[in-house]
Amino acid sequence: MKISTVILAAGQGTRMHSSTPKVLHRIAGKTLLEHVIQTAKQFSQLSPIVVYGHQGEMLQKTLNQTDVIWVHQPEQLGTGHAVSQALSHIPEDHQVLILYGDVPLISHVTLSKLLENTTKNALGILTAHAHNPQGLGRIIRGPKNKIIKIIEEKDATEKEKQISEINTGIYLVPASYLKKWLPKLDNHNAQKEYYLTDIIEMALHENISIIDTQPDHAEEILGVNTRHQLAQLERYYQRQQAKIFLQHGVTLMDPHRFDVRGDVVIGQDTTIDINVILEGDVKIGERCVIGPHCILRNVTVGNDVEIRAHSILDGAMIDNECIIGPFARIRPGTKLAHKSHVGNFVEIKNSSIGVESKINHLSYVGDSQIGKQVNIGAGTITCNYDGVNKHRTTIGDYVFVGSNSALVAPVTIHDGATIGAGSTITRDAPPNQLTLSRERQKTIENWQRPVKAEKER
Ligand code: UD1
Ligand code: CA
Repeated sequence: MKISTVILAAGQGTRMHSSTPKVLHRIAGKTLLEHVIQTAKQFSQLSPIVVYGHQGEMLQKTLNQTDVIWVHQPEQLGTGHAVSQALSHIPEDHQVLILYGDVPLISHVTLSKLLENTTKNALGILTAHAHNPQGLGRIIRGPKNKIIKIIEEKDATEKEKQISEINTGIYLVPASYLKKWLPKLDNHNAQKEYYLTDIIEMALHENISIIDTQPDHAEEILGVNTRHQLAQLERYYQRQQAKIFLQHGVTLMDPHRFDVRGDVVIGQDTTIDINVILEGDVKIGERCVIGPHCILRNVTVGNDVEIRAHSILDGAMIDNECIIGPFARIRPGTKLAHKSHVGNFVEIKNSSIGVESKINHLSYVGDSQIGKQVNIGAGTITCNYDGVNKHRTTIGDYVFVGSNSALVAPVTIHDGATIGAGSTITRDAPPNQLTLSRERQKTIENWQRPVKAEKER
């Protein structure tokens, strides 16, 4: 079966009360439209055709990396009119899968079922039973339970409104039928729109079989019209993600307090505490423990790593058996080698930290290279910025930097060097020696504390 996909996205989305087009609102960090585009791409060799109306520039700018065919529908004259705008891009011998930019979570499984059930010359339609069918088109069935018509809410009689089977709006239709039928649509209905749903009666008229399929989950076919619905679908999506991780051997302390906003892989026997957010491309190995309230964005974490509470990691590579946090901030370009430790209130940016090195308290390390088994004392700062340029700090193996040192880059601390606490280091420190730069401690003999005058006491 050769498939073309059309995604309708011309609606204005006024009920979002937003200056952003509705389909650019996000679920799990990804625009609604991208969710649908990604699903569509799994069914077709050809780029999805997106029918847009308002704010086309903003759509195209946001999705500029995405391979789609943009088709403008200047006036929203109805779903039938919208599909007809796309027809010139669709080969005659294709089946057309019609999707919606604001129905983001339609699944690959459900659409595969629609494709499987629908024979080549039939019209396939996805229907569902709704608890609250209000506002949706109702499926009218005739003798032998055959679908004979779809009636829109605004055109329905009181009796038809009682029907709970609704039209999801998702169809699989041979392109040749659409090319024949869509020009024949009229807008003689309550909304004065060209209804795509009228093709059902046309199919019936031509004795073309109409085959219905139902979605796996009710939430898949829900549209986003309001922020409330957006929030509901976000929660549904997150629950689904959590389920998948649980099935694959990840422990989530509370699946309801766990958010994934990207492409995430987590190894077996890793435990994730509450309120952890994983964003972008995240890979976490096996047997890791991620404490509560951590954010990991675009990071790769090895096995047996412990990331303690309230740590934020962004654009970093963490090797096996590292310990990070609590309250650590690891910024882009950071590499932590095997068994290194980064403790509380430590910020690291664009630096590599060697095997078994420790930066355990209250430090800033930026643009630095640190060797193995180095100990960076509390309060150490790499002064990497002179107000104009960034400079590098190089620290060899087995170095000991005493607490509260300022290393003014560019500077090198050679292997085995010890830096005395409280030093400001502006020149390279030689290997295996103690370097310090601070005033020698002195005691002033016979010194007396000032005392208050008698009357002030
Ligand atoms: C449509 C169906 C209805 C179905 C419902 C499911 C018709 C006539 N009715 O309702 O049976 O139950 O979807 O949600 O098809 N759009 C355009 N251009 C237009 C009009 C709509 O691109 O001119 C897009 C919208 O952006 C939206 C989708 O089509 O993504 C559906 O439009 P909407 O107005 O939400 O649905 P209805 O037409 O009311
Ligand atoms: Ca409408």
